[in-house]
Amino acid sequence: MVINKAYDCYIEDKQGNKFIDTSMGAGSQIIGHDNKLIRKISEQVKSGTIYTIPNIHTDAVNFYLKKYINPEFHDKYVFCNSGTEANMRAIRLARAYTGKNKIGRFHGGWHGGLDGFIESRGVPSIFNELVEVLPYNDEGCFEKITPDLAAIIIEPVQGSNPRSDIGIFLQKLRERCTETGVLLIFDEVMTGFRLSMRGGAGVFSVKPDVVTYGKVLGGGFPIGAVGGKKEILKTKGVFYGGTFSANPLTMYAAKLILKTIVNKRYIRYDKLNLMGELLRDKLNQVFIDKKKPMRVIGCGSTNRVVFTDKIIKNREDRDKLESQNQKYFYNQLKSNGVFINVNGIIQLSMSHTHKIINKISSAVMSTI
Ligand SMILES: Cc1ncc(COP(=O)(O)O)c(C=O)c1O
Repeated sequence: MVINKAYDCYIEDKQGNKFIDTSMGAGSQIIGHDNKLIRKISEQVKSGTIYTIPNIHTDAVNFYLKKYINPEFHDKYVFCNSGTEANMRAIRLARAYTGKNKIGRFHGGWHGGLDGFIESRGVPSIFNELVEVLPYNDEGCFEKITPDLAAIIIEPVQGSNPRSDIGIFLQKLRERCTETGVLLIFDEVMTGFRLSMRGGAGVFSVKPDVVTYGKVLGGGFPIGAVGGKKEILKTKGVFYGGTFSANPLTMYAAKLILKTIVNKRYIRYDKLNLMGELLRDKLNQVFIDKKKPMRVIGCGSTNRVVFTDKIIKNREDRDKLESQNQKYFYNQLKSNGVFINVNGIIQLSMSHTHKIINKISSAVMSTI
């Protein structure tokens, strides 16, 4: 599929076919495509899009993040151009701050295409030796968190099995990291400014030492951010720069998005989360009524279809329990006018109204 244009919750391909989009730029477009804010951002183009010298918008973004997001535990932020880059920097920072090299990450998590974090040709095996993979949502992971680790990185809610019952696990993880002197990094690239104004940290009341953001924060422009206490962020000798880092266009977009969030203008998390819940309830009812071994699981406005009616605890369970005929469902659903991205993650926006949820539900009903 090749896309020609996108507006509200719709995408149109080059043949003019229109689909309800449930990916929304992999979660970035929380207001909707071609929204009022995006159009305002284009004003910045007239004043230049790249200076490589600090700009006024970055100060404003820092101000909003410090004052409203997690003021008690993150007081300094640095900016880059993607979630992957933010995680690369966070990991480098953790290694420099602790003087240790090994990083713990969780099975089923996604932190971008970082060497040592993905299975890919071209990655020397030595990178993987510096990363320990732990079982997610499984208390068996705690004994593997030992003082030789520099940091643990985790998505508070994993896209591969989005769930809202993860709070206690995250709180225990916080305790274990403190006990062992291991930094806790929350990768909030997907969950930040989506699950709530304060991301997963806010929803589950957990204070990570370092946080990374991306997606929603850029308002549709490429962004990454690393936040933490000054004491950690100011670690000497850690490199952060880059030609496009904190460019005025992206920073202007981030400033407007943050203003919007703080002032509850175009983004209302209560409404957004309600639509997420409605989608889960409606689709689950369709699956139950049609006796299909399928369910929707999720947290807030982030959902995914799983191809089993059994309860799954993590990605490992998903892999064991899911049936394999998933491609047919996604292709057929697309023919019925609803697009779910290849990663299977459904991310709603403010333009997904009750009426749109009903349309998605009817399309699923005709698909299965
Ligand atoms: C949790 C998480 N971390 C990191 C990334 C990578 O971000 P980017 O694609 O902007 O590099 C993603 C992207 O999907 C993500 O969902």
